[in-house]
Amino acid sequence: MNLIFLGPPGAGKGTQAKIICQEFGYTYLGTGDLLRSLVSRSDPLALKAKEFMEKGELVPDSLMVEIVSGQLKTLKNGFILDGFPRTLEQAQILEEMLKELGIQIDHVIYFHLDDAEAENRLSNRYQCKNCGNIYNSNLGQCPKCGGSLFRRKDDEPETIRKRLEVYHLQTAPLLEYYERRGKLKRIDAQGSVEEISGRIKSILRNGKN
Ligand code: AP5
Repeated sequence: MNLIFLGPPGAGKGTQAKIICQEFGYTYLGTGDLLRSLVSRSDPLALKAKEFMEKGELVPDSLMVEIVSGQLKTLKNGFILDGFPRTLEQAQILEEMLKELGIQIDHVIYFHLDDAEAENRLSNRYQCKNCGNIYNSNLGQCPKCGGSLFRRKDDEPETIRKRLEVYHLQTAPLLEYYERRGKLKRIDAQGSVEEISGRIKSILRNGKN
């Protein structure tokens, strides 16, 4: 299956994409993680993207496509795109690229979560500098490896609000785009991590949840 995970920041897209990829052997392409890893390696394009990310804005389409096009061109059946596309222009570019590769998207899974819960989750997200594990409170040290925990710069309250505003303006129109193509599957992103994985797996099995 080839899937796109769509939804507001904090909806749990990354958490679920990693679980489903591990269980089904899919390839994971998360543009947020990709950008952050390129920034940490001082990739010149990613450094240009950094200022937009830190402000909670989207990286401009042309720059974004330049950064991810290499990875998109190597896609083979069995993947999850997490955080791409995020604008109508990116969706159209992706559609063209996949057509050339002879690949189809099976489902676009939309994680529905209200802004208050998204804000609450993101303001309590801490990540281990060493192993990358994510926690929902500041435990100081990573229980798994002892590494120190940090909070993403874009998880400051003001930047979270900006990201949500940007999501509603620039990304939410994709819901209609994929609905018209018969690809959109909505899930309630409220509930335990296990419950939400169950809703996604039900779509993978039956085409609906
Ligand atoms: P990105 O890293 O993709 O950020 P995002 O979409 O804002 O997504 P998040 O990672 O914040 O949320 P998520 O839905 O993955 O939730 P998670 O699973 O982590 O992008 C960062 C930036 O990069 C963008 O702002 C933009 O600047 C740039 N960018 C990236 N792609 C781009 C593109 N295509 N075009 C332009 N710019 C782009 O969960 C969140 C928290 O909730 C965690 O603490 C988690 O443990 C917890 N949680 C998860 N599930 C549950 C649950 N069921 N119950 C309670 N807590 C839960």
